[in-house]
Amino acid sequence: MRTKVGIVGGGPAGLLLSHLLHLEGIDSVVLEDRSREYVEHRIRAGVLEHGTVELLTETGLGDRLQREGLVHQGVELRFLGVGHRIDFADLTGGRSITIYGQQEVVKDLIAKRLDDGGDIRFEVSDVRLDGLTSDRPTIAFAHDGAEETLECDVVAGCDGFHGVTRHAIPEGVLTEYDRTYPFAWLGILAEAPPSSEELIYTNHERGFSLCSLRSPTLSRLYLQVPPDERLENWPDERIWEELRRRTATTGDFTLNEGPVVERLIAPLRSWVAEPMQYGRLFLAGDAAHIVPATGAKGLNLAVADVRRLARGLVRLFERGETDLLEGYSDGCLRRVWRVQQFSWWMTSMLHRFDPADRYGPRLQISELEYVTSSRAAATTLAENYVGLPFDDGGSSS
Ligand code: FAD
Ligand code: DHB
Repeated sequence: MRTKVGIVGGGPAGLLLSHLLHLEGIDSVVLEDRSREYVEHRIRAGVLEHGTVELLTETGLGDRLQREGLVHQGVELRFLGVGHRIDFADLTGGRSITIYGQQEVVKDLIAKRLDDGGDIRFEVSDVRLDGLTSDRPTIAFAHDGAEETLECDVVAGCDGFHGVTRHAIPEGVLTEYDRTYPFAWLGILAEAPPSSEELIYTNHERGFSLCSLRSPTLSRLYLQVPPDERLENWPDERIWEELRRRTATTGDFTLNEGPVVERLIAPLRSWVAEPMQYGRLFLAGDAAHIVPATGAKGLNLAVADVRRLARGLVRLFERGETDLLEGYSDGCLRRVWRVQQFSWWMTSMLHRFDPADRYGPRLQISELEYVTSSRAAATTLAENYVGLPFDDGGSSS
């Protein structure tokens, strides 16, 4: 088996890369260790940046997104029981975010790739990389009981944080940076109309909470919980009671409740591995970096990586030039670190870190008051949240 780009991982990063390459006439094979059913129903992120929506729409993935995606022009920051709106449209010259579940993006991508004759192998196992410093790297894997080898020009490691491609890089090459947080998020999907048209991020003495949504009939809600918390400790009534307490406000607000149809506990983590390239292996998305969910950036950052990677690969295959690929890691990492800082900042401003600390929460309130009263500070939040423009670094030609 031979292809130009062997892509390990059929999440948003791997599937979108395959799609972008196809549009430029470059063939690829996607190897995914889970089933199609599994990846299409894995519930994760829900916020698409302005530029992510533009890219998906421009590349033929906008039909359902434009119909079903919910465009939001702002968010609410709630603290000391009072809500304050950050008006994205006003602060960023009309930019917005769109609420559209990650698994919907994945469904659209898979349908489009298969429609276009794309090659996605689900339920592969035992993926091993070889020859990464040669110009003919290979990917060995097992599929349908047979051992296969895929010869490529380039390998894209899009297999997420728990993937294998990063581990094919020899020891000592990567430098890792990380920060852990003393809390996790408990997230639920509930059959209840959203309590608010826009997202509500709440700083509360009992801990952070977030009211989000997926549709006019589905709410997505999150609570800060201890890092080692177990779902068994959270029967539905306890979840609703805690959400009611944390979202309580002096304003007009009722928390809509309904049957909980999905629940998870997700750790919060900041982590980067540098560089994002080794020989002919290029890492993209969660395989190279993780951000805490507070900034809603993980999926969007994966999109920015593969957009840049696709441009570098087009230049390689069209002109035989490696200049853009050589700048891939540095170019990506500029955005990665901007998003790391933003996600860390949002997380730091909104969560309770240490119940015994009286000083930290006072700083948070001071910061929240500033962010919601100074146009300059609000603009900082707004322009990062809707997503900074893609930096093309000379790659548009
Ligand atoms: P992934 O989506 O992880 O895709 C990697 C793919 O590779 C997967 O399909 C996996 O099955 C496959 N794979 C793994 N190992 C192998 C292997 N050895 N061989 C072949 N395939 C392999 N971000 C937000 O912004 N907001 C959120 O609310 C949010 N919630 C999240 C909740 C959870 C539980 C998790 C894990 C992440 C969440 N994120 C969230 C982050 C966001 O979903 C990710 O940043 C995004 O999925 C990154 O896309 P990716 O394609 O790089 O990685
Ligand atoms: C959602 C997730 C996030 O991490 C976030 O910051 C906002 C919204 C969501 O799942 O809707």
